Amino acid sequence: MHVAIIMDGNGRWATQRGLPRTAGHIEGAKTVRSVVEAAARSGVDVLTLYAFSSANWSRPAGETSALMRLFGQYLFTETRRCVEQSIRLNVIGRRDRLGDNLLRAIEQSERLTAGGTGMHLRIAVDYSSQASILQAARRVRAEGPLDSDAFMALLNEVDHCAYPSGEVDLLIRTGHERRLSDFLLWECAYAELYFADCLWPEFGESEFKAALDDFARRQRRFGRVAAHDPLGIRGEGT
Ligand code: FPP
Repeated sequence: MHVAIIMDGNGRWATQRGLPRTAGHIEGAKTVRSVVEAAARSGVDVLTLYAFSSANWSRPAGETSALMRLFGQYLFTETRRCVEQSIRLNVIGRRDRLGDNLLRAIEQSERLTAGGTGMHLRIAVDYSSQASILQAARRVRAEGPLDSDAFMALLNEVDHCAYPSGEVDLLIRTGHERRLSDFLLWECAYAELYFADCLWPEFGESEFKAALDDFARRQRRFGRVAAHDPLGIRGEGT
């Protein structure tokens, strides 16, 4: 089970309270902590969190540097908890634009959590799915077989994803928007979409469980006809 989350709405949460946007990100980091633990307890195999898109570099410098600091602090405080809970932590996305301190923190977290046998936690930082697909495509050799599994392996390679992650089963987005925002476009080919009616800092364990319950009720068809429609009279399944 691979769950991916677009964590949207920190800025609005803060603005509604007369606080600076960075206060929303700090509150959002607390939500990350509780959702990671809820996911691990629920038996999720892979959890991918969209923390910073490549497009987010166009935000004011004060906000981007506050976010980078927050990621570093998160790694500093959460690595030990990940080790205790056997969670393997992995940061995916570009690394060449991250600061040296953050890079070192990422490498250290990944090294210290590498022995985990439980959930694989992927945090997407400076991530653009289109850029990853283009980069993976450049690595495809003209000769030789290439199926979707092999392409996925290439994508994981360009994203610095240390362990096989598989396609996304459930994509959750908070923040009242309904778009993909360049997140895991290849991996979400057959993902079930769930839009939580709240801002990210308001999302908690019960909202996460509601998303999982909703997912459990979905009928996934992967292009086949529905089980209760053996003649396919309702047309092509999606
Ligand atoms: C999008 O909402 C959110 C972000 C660009 C940052 C996400 C960061 C966190 C959830 C906190 C830190 C993360 C980790 C992994 C420690 P927005 O701020 O653009 O909200 P808005 O749409 O209301 O402006």
